[in-house]
Amino acid sequence: MANEKRRVLRSQAWFEGTGAKNFANRSWVRSRGVPEDHFDGRPVVGICNTWSELTPCNSHFRDLAQHVREGIIEAGGVPMEFPVISPGEMLTRPTAMLLRNLCSMDVEETLRANPMDGVVLLMGCDKTTPALLMGAASVNLPTIGLSAGPMLNGSFRGKSFGVKDAWNMAADLRAGRAVNGDFEDAENCLTRTVGVCNVMGTASTMASMVEALGVGLPDNASIPAVDARRRVLARMAGRRIVDLVREELTLDKILTRQALENAIKVNAAIGGSTNAVIHLTAVARRMGVELDIEDWHQIGRDVPTLLNLQPSGSYMMQDFHEAGGLPVIIRDMCEAGLLYGDALTVTGKTLVENNANAICMNSDVIHSVADPFMQNSGVAILRGNLCPNGAVIKPSAAEHRLLKHKGRAVVFEGQEDLNLRVDDPNLEIDADSVMILRNCGPRGFPGMPELGMLPIPAKLLKQGVTDMVRISDARMSGTSFGAVVLHVSPEAAVGGALAVVRDGDIIELNIEERRLELHISEEELQDRLAVWEPPAAAANRGYTKLYIDTVNQADEGCDLDFLVGKSGSDVPAAQH
Ligand code: FES
Ligand code: MG
Repeated sequence: MANEKRRVLRSQAWFEGTGAKNFANRSWVRSRGVPEDHFDGRPVVGICNTWSELTPCNSHFRDLAQHVREGIIEAGGVPMEFPVISPGEMLTRPTAMLLRNLCSMDVEETLRANPMDGVVLLMGCDKTTPALLMGAASVNLPTIGLSAGPMLNGSFRGKSFGVKDAWNMAADLRAGRAVNGDFEDAENCLTRTVGVCNVMGTASTMASMVEALGVGLPDNASIPAVDARRRVLARMAGRRIVDLVREELTLDKILTRQALENAIKVNAAIGGSTNAVIHLTAVARRMGVELDIEDWHQIGRDVPTLLNLQPSGSYMMQDFHEAGGLPVIIRDMCEAGLLYGDALTVTGKTLVENNANAICMNSDVIHSVADPFMQNSGVAILRGNLCPNGAVIKPSAAEHRLLKHKGRAVVFEGQEDLNLRVDDPNLEIDADSVMILRNCGPRGFPGMPELGMLPIPAKLLKQGVTDMVRISDARMSGTSFGAVVLHVSPEAAVGGALAVVRDGDIIELNIEERRLELHISEEELQDRLAVWEPPAAAANRGYTKLYIDTVNQADEGCDLDFLVGKSGSDVPAAQH
C-alpha cells in the first residue's frame, strides 16, 4: 500500500492528517474494530444496500454485501456498507415510483457526505435500480452496479409458472374460468425463492440495462439470486471496484451517450419493460447526457427482439441464464454491428471484449439477429394531439389486430372510478372501445402508478376478449402486456389533452405511423381545455408535496426538477 499513500483519494480528506477532526474520524471508525493500517490511503468503498424485509426481492442483500465486502478487502480496499431507503414494488403505497426520487436523494447525499472513493450499488426490485443509478450519477464516483438476480422459475402443478401466468389466472378468476382455490395454491409457487420477478419485468430489464451500459459485470442480469455464482459475482464486483478507484474510472466515463444507445438497443432485443424509457431518461439527465424519448424510436426501431421471455414470450429468467444470459445477446448484437462494441465498461475492457466468448445454449430461448424471435418490436414512441410530448407502447405485447385501430372512448377519471365501474354489466363498452384512464400521471396520482394495463371488463372477458386498446398517463408493470398506450405526456393533471377526452370521442391508434389522435378539431380541443379545472393536489405537506410541486413529466424522466444534473463529490469540510 506504500505507493498508494501518495495518491490523493477523496477519503484521505477525512482520514489523513494530524488535526483533531482527522483523529476523531479515524477514532470513530476504529470503534468498529478496524485496525490502524486501514487509514494508510486504501480506497474506501461504499456498499450501498437496499436490503429490507419490506422489499423481499432484495432481502438476500445482507448476504450478498458480505461477498462484496470480502472482494473489497481482498483487493486492498476498505468496505463501508450503508443503508438507503428501499422502495419495494409490491408493498409500497401508493406506488414505489413516488419514492424512487427520494431514494436517489438518499444515495446522492449519503455518498457526498461521507468518506467514500467508490461505491458498489446493491439493487434489484424495480425502482431500486434507477434510484441508485440516478443518485450515483449525480455524484460521479467510480461505481459498479450489482443486481439482485431473479427468483428461480415459479413452478405450479408440474409446470413453469411466471408472473404473466399469475395475471392470466387472475383474469380467468374474474371471468369465472378459474376457482379461488387454484389461485391460492399458486401463491407460493410463483415466488419460491428471494430475488426479483422471474420474467423480463422492470427489475430484470433494469438489471440488463446495468449490464448493457457497462456499469455492471457480465452476467449481472440473469444469474439467479440464490445461485452461488451470484455470490462470486458480488465478490468480483468488490475486487474490481477497488481497482476502478485506483484507475480513477468515474461513472461518467462509462455512462456515456454511446452506452445509453447500447442500452436502448439491448432493451429492444430483450423485449424490455416500458419503464426503462422513464428510468434511463432520468439517469441520462442526471449524468448530463442528451437523451430524448424520440431516441428510443430512432435508435431502437430496427432492432429485433431476440429473447423469448415472458411477458412478450414464454420462458423465464432462469431459462435465460441457462441459455447463456445477456452476454450471448450482446455478443451477437456486437457481431451484427448493432452496438458500440468499443464502449468502455467497469471491467476496464470494452463491451465486445467482455462478451466475446458467450455461447448460446438454447436458441429457442435466445434467438439471434439472423433468426430473431420478433421483428421491430422495441418500444414505440407515439405522437399526436392526444400526446404532443409523446406516449409509449410496446407493440410486441399487443394483439396484432389492435396495432391499427379506431374506437370510441370510454373514460375513467382515475383508479377509484375504474374499480367502481369496470365490471358493471351496464357499462357501455365493446371489444372495439378505447379505454381511457386519466389523473394517474406523475403529478396527478401522484407518482405515476402501474395502472396502465386497465383490466378488460368482466363481461368482455366472458365473451373471450383478451386485449383492447387502453390509454393512460400511468405506467404499466414490466410484467404486463396488451395494446396499452402509456406515459401520455403532458398528463391530464397538468392540462394535457387527455384531461378533456369524453365518452364517445373517436380515438385512432396507428403504430406503424406512430400516431395517437383524438378526432376532434383543434378549436374544439382548445374550447374544452379553456374550461378545464385542474384537480386538487393530493397532498399539502411532506415529501409528497415536494414531489407534486417539482416532478417533471414522463418524457423528462419523472425526476424532481431540481435534481436534474450533478452535484459532484466535492463537499467542504466543517466541524460538527
Ligand atoms: Fe420486486 Fe418484481 S416486485 S422485482
Ligand atoms: Mg413494477
